[in-house]
Amino acid sequence: MNLKSLFLQHVGQTSMTPLMLEVAHAEGMYITETSGKKYLDLISGFSVSSLGHRHPRVVEAIKTQADLYLHTTVYGEHVQSPQVKYASKLAAILDNGLDAIYYVNSGAEAIEVAIKLGRKATHRSEIISCANAYHGSTTGAEALRSDYDFSRNFMPSLPGVRHIQFNSEADLSKITNKTACVILEPVQAEAGVISPQNNYLQKLRKRCDETGTLLFLDEIQTGFGRTGHLFAHQKYNVLPDAIMIAKGMGGGMPVGAVVASRHLLKVFADNPMLGHINTFGGHPVCIAAALANLEVLIEEKNIIGEVMHKSEYLTSRLKHDIISEVRADGLLMAVELTRPEYLMPVIKAAVQRGALIDFYLFNDRSFRLSPPLIISNYQMEEAVNILLDACTDVHA
Ligand SMILES: Cc1ncc(COP(=O)(O)O)c(C=O)c1O
Repeated sequence: MNLKSLFLQHVGQTSMTPLMLEVAHAEGMYITETSGKKYLDLISGFSVSSLGHRHPRVVEAIKTQADLYLHTTVYGEHVQSPQVKYASKLAAILDNGLDAIYYVNSGAEAIEVAIKLGRKATHRSEIISCANAYHGSTTGAEALRSDYDFSRNFMPSLPGVRHIQFNSEADLSKITNKTACVILEPVQAEAGVISPQNNYLQKLRKRCDETGTLLFLDEIQTGFGRTGHLFAHQKYNVLPDAIMIAKGMGGGMPVGAVVASRHLLKVFADNPMLGHINTFGGHPVCIAAALANLEVLIEEKNIIGEVMHKSEYLTSRLKHDIISEVRADGLLMAVELTRPEYLMPVIKAAVQRGALIDFYLFNDRSFRLSPPLIISNYQMEEAVNILLDACTDVHA
């Protein structure tokens, strides 16, 4: 049997229509199939590969760390240099009181930590999240999702979760002195890229302060330069009590974290101790990769510095009879089509023509563009040509 048949037979599936791209190699902006076909990656493996695939400094850091040690013990016991260096570097870069990191392995796990952190720190149980938000697929993270059609299969859900509409000032009154924390994306990604309007995040911060509620921002998709700043909370000038990060953090390696004040994160260490524990969080190889990734993003200032310009350029070029709107927050972009029936055919046509795009979970008319931040002018041209041709294929 060939690899594709074995994949379908033995690897757990998430849909009836997997893309089935058989990966041979990935480098920079491109993923190459075993057939030799090369794809321009316009989604960065879902907002992960901000520096492109296999950035040399990330690969080098992985190799160097692999020669020293891999897992030595459960998270939180041994002093491992990659963890300590990363945490202190990020604290210095942020310089806003978010000076400690709790390491985990993925975005959803960071959300689980946030839910527990909010409850333990406030002695309250209610959690508020937004409609049309996706925070991960573990049970707690999934409970933050608003669409019943999906969650009904997994009931009963985590109790104590309420939803508000993103950008609705009226809904802020639903945050009360019973609310432990609000968990929200500073820019809604899976809703199809919805940016905060009219100082929404400042008003949210104010309401949280009035009610003694913690504000936790899910920067899992917006972090690491995607919106044109290292983090979106910096761009929108709001100081949360914690951010959750993952995806673009690891330079292609699996990692996640909650970044908060030392004081807040201490709640897990005491009364009783071991309030949240995990085996692999902050794995030395993953954090060595994350450190190299962060260093490149900070040192090579033009990578993040050019995000807005690239976003504006792509937006200006994506004009077609079946494109009704391009919503963008930096290089997190949603290209909205005039009709939902066009969406999947356009995605398919783009893939056939050699560019990887995809859909958003909560938007049936927009396709996802979230390219590596390193996309060059030439590759932007290549992307625009393929996307417009894909639209024409479908329109014709
Ligand atoms: C905003 C946001 N939060 C959390 C997650 C979950 O991250 P992970 O897939 O690493 O569990 C995702 C994943 O797409 C996400 O987009």
